[in-house]
Amino acid sequence: MTKLICPKCKEALEKTEKSLVCRNRHCYDIAKEGYVNLLPSSKNGSLIGDNRDMALSRRDFLNKGYFSALAEALGVELKKTEAVSPCVLDICCGEGYYSSFLKKSYHGDFLGFDISKEMIRLAAKRKSGVSYFVANMTDIPLSDESVDFAIHLFAPFFENEFYRILKKGGTLVSVTPGKEHLFSLKKVLYDTPYLNDETPPETKKLTLVEQKKVLAEIELQSEDDIQALFKMTPYYYHTSDENKKRLVGINSLETEIDFTLNIYKK
Ligand SMILES: C[S@@+](CC[C@H](N)C(=O)[O-])C[C@H]1O[C@@H](n2cnc3c(N)ncnc32)[C@H](O)[C@@H]1O
Ligand SMILES: [Zn+2]
Repeated sequence: MTKLICPKCKEALEKTEKSLVCRNRHCYDIAKEGYVNLLPSSKNGSLIGDNRDMALSRRDFLNKGYFSALAEALGVELKKTEAVSPCVLDICCGEGYYSSFLKKSYHGDFLGFDISKEMIRLAAKRKSGVSYFVANMTDIPLSDESVDFAIHLFAPFFENEFYRILKKGGTLVSVTPGKEHLFSLKKVLYDTPYLNDETPPETKKLTLVEQKKVLAEIELQSEDDIQALFKMTPYYYHTSDENKKRLVGINSLETEIDFTLNIYKK
């Protein structure tokens, strides 16, 4: 965890037996699951971000491998990194599915953070060898130019910090839903389903060098899986209770997955 810096004074954090400490003696306990909360102490990570139920539901869904094609595509990009042992960061990592997946197959120093303590607790429980911490992407507790390869999936974009923490020549892969993502699910929910907007996250600091697609059909195997996937999407929050009922009683559903990998370089 050598690249971590103190959120209060920005000095390097050193690991002691049970905590991370900076030279100004600001101290952050390592939780029993192995993660560290690096949100400024005025903010309680358990009250921010996704709650426990959402975190569990997301973990269980992703563990079934429905989005494994996306995880593999991230691996293909990571493999292109020239560093022998790259520093890999999962920004807004959720419950750690993607970073843990990559850690299993690739060498490197893997880190991941999220503002939700529940998500990070589950991520750390994976015991995958990734160092997870609670933090806000608007103030990432990592030193300047410390990351070779960052992934960022389905989360808000904050270019100033992403640019600061990337090494020169470093890569950020930001994943957004493509236009046909979950279209068959939307056909059940809405009378006139719309295609997603495919505009990549805008940034003046990083250079968008390439866009790649991950396209596949997945067969959701149960009503629970359909509901879990629906709750992971923004549609869940924008659908009326009346329309939500349209998914009740459906036990299997084939739908498209369509992801765009927006590949940026510093
Ligand atoms: C849709 S989830 C995606 C999680 C993960 N990337 C994945 O694909 O499984 C969005 C995540 O962004 C996190 N998030 C939102 N705002 C954040 C912020 N300001 N700093 C850190 N994480 C944030 C949420 O807590 C949530 O876990
Ligand atoms: Zn400090």
